[in-house]
Amino acid sequence: MKASRGLVLFVAAAVGTLLAHCGGTSDGGGGASSDAGPAPDAALGPTFHKDVEPIVQKHCTMCHTEGGIGPFSMQTYAAAKDYASAMASRTKDRTMPPWGAEETASCKPTHAFREDNRLSPAEIATLEAWSRAGAPEGDPKDAPAKVARDISSLPAKTDTLELSAYTMSSPTDVMRCFVVDPKLTATRYLNGYHVVPGALGVVHHALIYADPKRESLKKVQGGGDQYDCFGGPQFDSANLVGGWVPGSVPGELPPNVGTQMDAGTLFVVQVHYHAGGPGPREDKTKIELRFTDQKPEYYAKTRLIGNFRGAFGTTPGDGLQPGADGKVEFMIPPGAEGHEEVMRVTMPPALAAAGTVYLYGVGGHMHYIGVSEELRIKHVAPQNGAPADECLLGIPRWDFDWQRGFAYAAPIEQLPQVAAGDQITVKCGYNNSMSNPKMARVMRETGITAPQPVTLGESTLDEMCLGAFVFLAKVPF
Ligand code: HEC
Repeated sequence: MKASRGLVLFVAAAVGTLLAHCGGTSDGGGGASSDAGPAPDAALGPTFHKDVEPIVQKHCTMCHTEGGIGPFSMQTYAAAKDYASAMASRTKDRTMPPWGAEETASCKPTHAFREDNRLSPAEIATLEAWSRAGAPEGDPKDAPAKVARDISSLPAKTDTLELSAYTMSSPTDVMRCFVVDPKLTATRYLNGYHVVPGALGVVHHALIYADPKRESLKKVQGGGDQYDCFGGPQFDSANLVGGWVPGSVPGELPPNVGTQMDAGTLFVVQVHYHAGGPGPREDKTKIELRFTDQKPEYYAKTRLIGNFRGAFGTTPGDGLQPGADGKVEFMIPPGAEGHEEVMRVTMPPALAAAGTVYLYGVGGHMHYIGVSEELRIKHVAPQNGAPADECLLGIPRWDFDWQRGFAYAAPIEQLPQVAAGDQITVKCGYNNSMSNPKMARVMRETGITAPQPVTLGESTLDEMCLGAFVFLAKVPF
């Protein structure tokens, strides 16, 4: 399960911007309720304070607040009312709130995911009915106590590290790596993390990597502590430990789980700055960490699997799988709308030494030509009633701008298990044609006029096919 190349390439940066669909109200499905329908009448339909405010406080205001990354605020009726029909349409088509993991015909994961922020059909219907009724305000006395969860800080944090200052002045998105030193003098175990952005409107996502060999020090020139890093931290030993997107709750592992950090380990935080975001551009982001000194019951380890150029390893047939033409080659032809690449890895016999290995969470990664991704596992001996061919994650509408990890909502002993001999597959779907709006946008930005053959690589119009897997075991592995 070596994927060090993948590691280096993981989460190549967003060069594109959200501008294409973040340009204010004009393309938001008709922000103002010009098709107002019947006159507002609180007696007939849902009202903002009674029915809508509880929904948006729970699902939306972590981003849609004054100065937040969402393009308008839903904190008050006055700020939200003109967006009623856009709120109804963006929730109905499930593009808001951003999420990604969906059940499909081929993928029904055994467990739900933690912190699933999707709306229920009833909540979606309420927003639609409110919009149709002309977005009535109702009685402010009906407003809920602010139920928005406090995501401003990591509970029981042991360390707060400030990244050095950065001013986002570029007209296109920037990926910047910051080196921070937690000054570990002995082995400690990371049990929680959180990212506290300085400039809320422009910090689009952040990934925290451990740098056990202090290799990032070679990347910073002239004694600084930051560098541009489009393709990830750009050294082999970087270990992904956590990710953050706007609205993320603090990343907390169960109390008996930790990621081992040896003395001297540095952290590299890759921050994606969003050129189109509102508000101040001077950023000073902080990361909050919760370490324990005691050995945990379960050790967590993140592995990236995929990005294989061909066959590899000792298990025959592992690596990139042959395409429809029988060739083992990662190439997405120009114009192809439904192209698929599949990668496979067999868990090595050595995994048995780690005892029972659980899968705590999963994530996918592709660039702009990618449109869907599916992670599966074929169990040699399925446990806990899992199917022999288990789907771990389905992302039927891949969106580069909203990539995130997904942790299963299950007690550790019921999590999917991974054993020696099990086969993990990562299947990626691509649309290398102008009918793919994300690709069309990046082509415009880079001045390319026609689709090109696409291969594996680090730049924006190259592709990737990766899965991130967070494993747990009772011994370090
Ligand atoms: C994780 C942060 C986040 C959450 C949570 C979120 N949004 Fe958004 N929303 C955004 C961002 C960023 C944009 C701009 C980019 C885009 O349009 O996709 C946006 C755009 C929108 C738009 C389009 C606005 C326009 O002017 O075109 C609507 C409508 C919207 N969101 C509604 C909602 C609703 C309703 C919820 C909750 C049910 C919600 N959003 C939850 C971040 C978020």
